[in-house]
Amino acid sequence: MMDMTANTKISGKVVKGAGRGRGLGFPTANVTPPSDAVLPANGVYATKITIDGTIYNAITNIGNNPTFGENHKTIETHVFGLDADITGKTISLEILRFVRAERRFGSVDELVEQIQRDVEQVLNDFEMPPNTQND
Ligand SMILES: Cc1cc2nc3c(=O)[nH]c(=O)nc-3n(C[C@H](O)[C@H](O)[C@H](O)COP(=O)(O)O)c2cc1C
Repeated sequence: MMDMTANTKISGKVVKGAGRGRGLGFPTANVTPPSDAVLPANGVYATKITIDGTIYNAITNIGNNPTFGENHKTIETHVFGLDADITGKTISLEILRFVRAERRFGSVDELVEQIQRDVEQVLNDFEMPPNTQND
Protein backbone atom coordinates (compact mmCIF):
# COMPACT_ATOMS: atom_id res chain seq x y z
CA MET A 1 0.00 0.00 0.00
CA MET A 2 1.34 3.40 -0.90
CA ASP A 3 0.14 6.88 -0.01
CA MET A 4 -1.22 7.60 -3.43
CA THR A 5 -2.31 10.90 -4.78
CA ALA A 6 -3.93 9.31 -7.78
CA ASN A 7 -3.42 10.87 -11.18
CA THR A 8 -2.99 14.46 -10.09
CA LYS A 9 -1.67 16.24 -13.16
CA ILE A 10 -0.05 19.65 -13.38
CA SER A 11 1.03 21.41 -16.56
CA GLY A 12 3.14 24.49 -16.75
CA LYS A 13 5.98 26.32 -18.34
CA VAL A 14 9.56 25.67 -17.25
CA VAL A 15 11.15 28.86 -15.95
CA LYS A 16 14.61 29.63 -14.66
CA GLY A 17 14.99 28.96 -10.93
CA ALA A 18 17.58 30.35 -8.56
CA GLY A 19 20.08 27.95 -10.16
CA ARG A 20 20.97 26.27 -6.86
CA GLY A 21 19.81 22.81 -7.88
CA ARG A 22 22.76 22.09 -10.13
CA GLY A 23 25.16 23.01 -7.34
CA LEU A 24 23.36 20.56 -5.05
CA GLY A 25 23.94 17.79 -7.60
CA PHE A 26 20.24 17.65 -8.50
CA PRO A 27 19.41 20.13 -11.23
CA THR A 28 15.71 20.92 -11.30
CA ALA A 29 13.30 22.29 -13.84
CA ASN A 30 11.10 24.87 -12.16
CA VAL A 31 7.52 24.65 -13.38
CA THR A 32 5.08 27.55 -13.17
CA PRO A 33 1.52 26.22 -13.07
CA PRO A 34 -1.46 28.35 -14.06
CA SER A 35 -2.31 30.72 -11.19
CA ASP A 36 -5.66 28.98 -10.60
CA ALA A 37 -4.13 25.48 -10.37
CA VAL A 38 -4.96 23.44 -7.27
CA LEU A 39 -1.63 22.14 -6.02
CA PRO A 40 -0.85 19.10 -3.87
CA ALA A 41 0.48 19.58 -0.33
CA ASN A 42 4.09 20.64 -0.02
CA GLY A 43 6.37 17.65 -0.21
CA VAL A 44 8.42 15.33 -2.34
CA TYR A 45 6.69 13.14 -4.93
CA ALA A 46 7.55 10.40 -7.41
CA THR A 47 6.37 11.73 -10.75
CA LYS A 48 6.22 11.12 -14.50
CA ILE A 49 7.03 14.08 -16.70
CA THR A 50 6.00 14.48 -20.31
CA ILE A 51 8.31 16.65 -22.41
CA ASP A 52 7.64 16.93 -26.16
CA GLY A 53 5.67 13.69 -26.06
CA THR A 54 8.36 11.69 -24.23
CA ILE A 55 7.67 10.42 -20.70
CA TYR A 56 10.45 10.53 -18.12
CA ASN A 57 10.68 9.33 -14.53
CA ALA A 58 11.27 12.20 -12.15
CA ILE A 59 11.29 13.33 -8.53
CA THR A 60 9.47 16.54 -7.72
CA ASN A 61 9.55 18.89 -4.75
CA ILE A 62 6.52 21.10 -4.24
CA GLY A 63 7.18 23.76 -1.64
CA ASN A 64 8.85 26.89 -0.42
CA ASN A 65 12.51 25.76 -0.13
CA PRO A 66 12.53 26.68 3.58
CA THR A 67 16.18 25.62 3.91
CA PHE A 68 17.03 28.64 1.77
CA GLY A 69 14.66 30.99 3.57
CA GLU A 70 12.31 31.24 0.61
CA ASN A 71 8.59 31.58 1.07
CA HIS A 72 6.89 31.28 -2.28
CA LYS A 73 5.58 27.96 -3.48
CA THR A 74 7.47 26.41 -6.37
CA ILE A 75 7.35 23.13 -8.24
CA GLU A 76 10.82 21.80 -8.93
CA THR A 77 11.44 18.58 -10.73
CA HIS A 78 14.60 16.56 -11.19
CA VAL A 79 14.16 14.48 -14.35
CA PHE A 80 16.13 11.23 -14.44
CA GLY A 81 18.30 10.78 -17.50
CA LEU A 82 17.69 14.23 -18.92
CA ASP A 83 20.56 16.64 -19.35
CA ALA A 84 19.03 19.07 -21.82
CA ASP A 85 17.95 22.57 -20.85
CA ILE A 86 14.16 22.56 -21.09
CA THR A 87 13.61 26.18 -20.03
CA GLY A 88 10.65 27.66 -21.88
CA LYS A 89 8.99 24.34 -22.67
CA THR A 90 5.53 23.50 -21.40
CA ILE A 91 5.64 20.17 -19.63
CA SER A 92 3.09 18.07 -17.83
CA LEU A 93 3.72 16.31 -14.60
CA GLU A 94 1.80 13.38 -13.14
CA ILE A 95 2.05 12.75 -9.41
CA LEU A 96 2.43 9.04 -8.60
CA ARG A 97 3.32 8.89 -4.93
CA PHE A 98 3.90 11.11 -1.92
CA VAL A 99 7.39 10.43 -0.53
CA ARG A 100 7.70 12.86 2.41
CA ALA A 101 6.76 16.33 3.61
CA GLU A 102 9.02 19.26 2.80
CA ARG A 103 11.05 20.48 5.75
CA ARG A 104 13.70 22.96 6.72
CA PHE A 105 17.14 21.42 7.09
CA GLY A 106 19.83 22.81 9.38
CA SER A 107 22.43 22.68 6.63
CA VAL A 108 22.66 22.22 2.89
CA ASP A 109 24.63 18.99 3.45
CA GLU A 110 21.70 17.51 5.39
CA LEU A 111 19.30 18.53 2.62
CA VAL A 112 21.51 16.90 -0.01
CA GLU A 113 21.78 13.68 2.04
CA GLN A 114 17.99 13.56 2.34
CA ILE A 115 17.52 14.20 -1.39
CA GLN A 116 19.90 11.30 -2.10
CA ARG A 117 17.71 9.02 0.04
CA ASP A 118 14.56 10.34 -1.65
CA VAL A 119 16.08 9.61 -5.06
CA GLU A 120 16.98 6.03 -4.05
CA GLN A 121 13.43 5.39 -2.85
CA VAL A 122 11.87 6.81 -5.98
CA LEU A 123 14.21 4.89 -8.28
CA ASN A 124 13.13 1.74 -6.43
CA ASP A 125 9.49 2.65 -7.08
CA PHE A 126 10.19 2.90 -10.78
CA GLU A 127 11.74 -0.56 -10.85
CA MET A 128 8.40 -2.13 -9.92
CA PRO A 129 6.38 -3.82 -12.66
CA PRO A 130 4.25 -1.14 -14.35
CA ASN A 131 0.98 -2.71 -13.18
CA THR A 132 1.91 -2.44 -9.49
CA GLN A 133 3.66 0.91 -9.69
CA ASN A 134 0.53 2.90 -9.01
CA ASP A 135 -0.95 0.69 -6.26
C1 LIG B 1 13.80 15.69 -4.38
C2 LIG B 1 13.94 17.07 -3.78
C3 LIG B 1 13.58 17.26 -2.46
C4 LIG B 1 13.71 18.51 -1.87
N1 LIG B 1 13.36 18.68 -0.55
C5 LIG B 1 13.52 19.88 0.04
C6 LIG B 1 13.18 20.08 1.42
O1 LIG B 1 12.68 19.19 2.12
N2 LIG B 1 13.40 21.30 1.96
C7 LIG B 1 13.93 22.35 1.23
O2 LIG B 1 14.11 23.42 1.78
N3 LIG B 1 14.20 22.20 -0.09
C8 LIG B 1 14.03 21.00 -0.69
N4 LIG B 1 14.36 20.83 -2.01
C9 LIG B 1 14.49 22.04 -2.84
C10 LIG B 1 15.83 22.53 -3.01
O3 LIG B 1 15.95 23.48 -1.98
C11 LIG B 1 15.86 23.18 -4.39
O4 LIG B 1 15.84 22.21 -5.38
C12 LIG B 1 17.03 24.07 -4.55
O5 LIG B 1 16.85 25.16 -3.72
C13 LIG B 1 17.20 24.55 -6.00
O6 LIG B 1 16.34 25.60 -6.29
P1 LIG B 1 16.43 26.31 -7.72
O7 LIG B 1 16.07 25.35 -8.78
O8 LIG B 1 15.43 27.45 -7.62
O9 LIG B 1 17.83 26.78 -7.86
C14 LIG B 1 14.21 19.60 -2.62
C15 LIG B 1 14.55 19.40 -3.98
C16 LIG B 1 14.43 18.16 -4.56
C17 LIG B 1 14.82 17.97 -5.99
